[in-house]
Order: sequence, then C-alpha cells, then structure tokens
Amino acid sequence: MMPVTTATNNREEVRRRSIEALTPEIVAYIETCAQDAHASSHLIGVLHKVQAHFGYLGREQMDAVAQLLQVPASKVTGVATFYHFFRLEPRGRFVINVCLGTACYVKGAERVADRLCEELGIHFGETTRDGLFSLEGTRCLGTCGLAPVIMIEDRIFGDMTPDQVPALLEKHVLQAQREDRQNGD
Ligand code: FES
Repeated sequence: MMPVTTATNNREEVRRRSIEALTPEIVAYIETCAQDAHASSHLIGVLHKVQAHFGYLGREQMDAVAQLLQVPASKVTGVATFYHFFRLEPRGRFVINVCLGTACYVKGAERVADRLCEELGIHFGETTRDGLFSLEGTRCLGTCGLAPVIMIEDRIFGDMTPDQVPALLEKHVLQAQREDRQNGD
C-alpha cells in the first residue's frame, strides 16, 4: 500500500501542476465537481469552462482535467474531439465566421467560403500558420437580407462576392500590422 505521505505528496503535485496548466479558480471548480459521485457527468461543463478561459482545449489543459476529475485522458480527448464546439488549437487573431444558413447558401455563400479557403490556405476549423485568421462556419447570423454574409470578430460584411475576399483579408492584415506598431511589437 502506498504510504499516506506519498499519496498526499502526489496529490499536491497534481494540484500544483494543474494550477500551472489551468487557473486556481478552474482547479477549485473541478475539485468541487470531482467530489460528486458522478464526477464524469461534469466533464462537458468543465471543458466548456476551460475553453471559455483559454479559447481552446490544449493537451496540457485536457490532461489536468483528466487528473483532477479522475477520468481517463482518452475519455477527455474523445469528448473534446466529438463535439464540434470544442477547439483543440488556439483561434486566430481574426475569427472569420461564414454564414452557411439557407439564405446565404442560396446567394452563393459556398463560393465565398471556397475563395476564403483558397486565399488563406486553410479549411474550416483551422487557423493560418501566422495565427492571424481562423475560419469557421455558422448558421444564420440574423442578417439574411444582406446574404451572403460573413462576420469577422463582431463586424458583419454583407452582399459578399468571392472577388471581395482578397481585399477584405488584406484590410485585416494591415489592421494587425497597424495595431502591432502601436503596441510596439
Ligand atoms: S442565412 Fe445567413 S444571415 Fe441568415
């Protein structure tokens, strides 16, 4: 049997590493969930909380969740990869949401999406290597009268055509450069 002090030390070490990977508040939240007889039923809620803080679920964060909640790491990975709303990599500086709702689809959203993929060299759910853009699909942004619509950060761009895509991306590249200069990066 493992001596009590060793078990305690191991627990402390797990906790210390978990706080490094997560935050003290998230660790405390997971520890509360772990006391539940059905601790694993909190897994999705915990992953939402982690993603809300970090923007995505990294390996380090998922491992910490598995240890604190005492569920197999494979289960955490399985849940994180099964649900499309979990992201396993950081989002880009600009998140481009392409509306794939019916009104936008009928008005050519697919061609706009294809052009975005082509110009950025990524697929939906991916981020450009420079970390500038992530591409995501969404259902009806509530501005069907402007279809086809894309949203970058909080801004809506309506009546989009594939030919407008390069200039729109360039505008955001310049914006990023301007902001970096202002911040002295
Ligand atoms: S379907 Fe695209 S905004 Fe409604």
